[in-house]
Amino acid sequence: PTSVKKLSRETNHFLDKKVRIEGWVRTLRVSKSFGFIEINDGTFFGNLQIVFDEGLDNFLDVAKLTISSAICVEGTLVESPRAKQPFELKAEKVEIVGLCAPDYPLQKKRHTFEFLRTIAHLRPRTNTFSAVFRVRSILAYAIHKFFQDKGFVYVHTPIITSSDCEGAGEMFRVSTLDLCNMAKDETGNVNFAEDFFGKETSLTVSGQLAVETYSMAFKNVYTFGPTFRAEKSNTPRHAAEFWMIEPEIAFADLSDDMHLAEEMIKYVINYVLENAPEEMAFFHNFIDKTLLERLENVVNSDFGQITYTEAVDILKKSGVPFEYAVDWGKDLQTEHERYLTEEVFKKPVFVTGYPKEIKAFYMRLNDDHKTVAAMDLLVPGVGEIIGGSQREERLDVLVKRMEELGLKTEDYWWYLDIRRYGGTKHAGFGLGFERVLMYLTGMTNIRDVISFPRTPKNAEF
Ligand code: 4AD
Ligand code: MG
Repeated sequence: PTSVKKLSRETNHFLDKKVRIEGWVRTLRVSKSFGFIEINDGTFFGNLQIVFDEGLDNFLDVAKLTISSAICVEGTLVESPRAKQPFELKAEKVEIVGLCAPDYPLQKKRHTFEFLRTIAHLRPRTNTFSAVFRVRSILAYAIHKFFQDKGFVYVHTPIITSSDCEGAGEMFRVSTLDLCNMAKDETGNVNFAEDFFGKETSLTVSGQLAVETYSMAFKNVYTFGPTFRAEKSNTPRHAAEFWMIEPEIAFADLSDDMHLAEEMIKYVINYVLENAPEEMAFFHNFIDKTLLERLENVVNSDFGQITYTEAVDILKKSGVPFEYAVDWGKDLQTEHERYLTEEVFKKPVFVTGYPKEIKAFYMRLNDDHKTVAAMDLLVPGVGEIIGGSQREERLDVLVKRMEELGLKTEDYWWYLDIRRYGGTKHAGFGLGFERVLMYLTGMTNIRDVISFPRTPKNAEF
């Protein structure tokens, strides 16, 4: 028999052929002389029905198989009499490879997502998480394809770094020193000269500063990797470890940046709809009944755009009793972002021109000297999924801003070099991978779209 490497709805070239399939029992129904097994072979979303009968040598053992046991089945793939699926497998041999213990926690009944988080090592075996992690994989590919097709160079930026890109001090320290019991020097500071790298290092919060330097060699680049934030926010949208896609484009300004972001979002939505239709139909039917219309609408509409100042006006005039008061100069909270995108625009919207005080040091100062060339993309259901900006390419302005913020310019000598050695205007953004995945699937908790979530007080597995 031919070993089936990948099942799909179009596996009809195997029809009436002898095949071998490996997988796990999802359901089992038996009567006296025959039975049905739904097997998940892991290669497509959905289960394959196996029909078996007394003709099997080990019929009685097969009839007693427990859910999630690993089996190998040989038989003939035939057209299914049932409309639900195109074909089924008539078993001639069922080899029991690994019997599943009786205390297996995933029995037929529906489990809550909260419960499934406690067994994150088993949840990819459920329909919902099978769909989530399949779409996650396809989405990652779509993102690479979008940039690669445009000629962007993929840059692997470091995970361990000695700079704090966002300047928010939310970094996880990396050290080989016993920091708790270490003797401090006479100034009360830890002597990092003795540390592995000879200086203070952390896990990166963003690959931006590094990828910016590469944009000055390749023009269009992107990085896509894990990033880490020791943010205390215990919300459904924040994880301590998440993945970020960060393109950087040279000879480009904020409007080029927004154009790229909009094109990318539309591209990946289309790609996933085309390449994961069954998973997307599942999310539409079981997670969010408005999902497909909503995504269709996003693909076919122009994203909205307002300035931060306009946004503040709209929010103030809305009369909505927000938990956090809106005031020019304060950052927008998720409730404000969601109001703007869900109630006012009813589609994705870019907010530009934030006050410099609430944004990072590298953003280009606008002519009003109060705001910066920043853009956040807000989407219904999630809020911010992208944060980006045009970068400050003017060396003197950048140095002045860093000094104002108390950053040690000597630590950023390499970043400043980029402004001195043939600098040009450039821009980029960061897309939260989990946030866009939530947006695409309708899943409402970031813990349910990342395999082993890391959140405050939770680093199980
Ligand atoms: O807005 P942020 O902080 O921007 C940056 O890091 C820039 N350096 C990006 C750049 O211009 N290259 O983060 C970017 C995006 C956010 O819009 C959000 O989608 C996601 O990263 N994000 C998080 N996702 C999950 N958990 C967290 N704790 C996140 N923090 C940010
Ligand atoms: Mg942001």
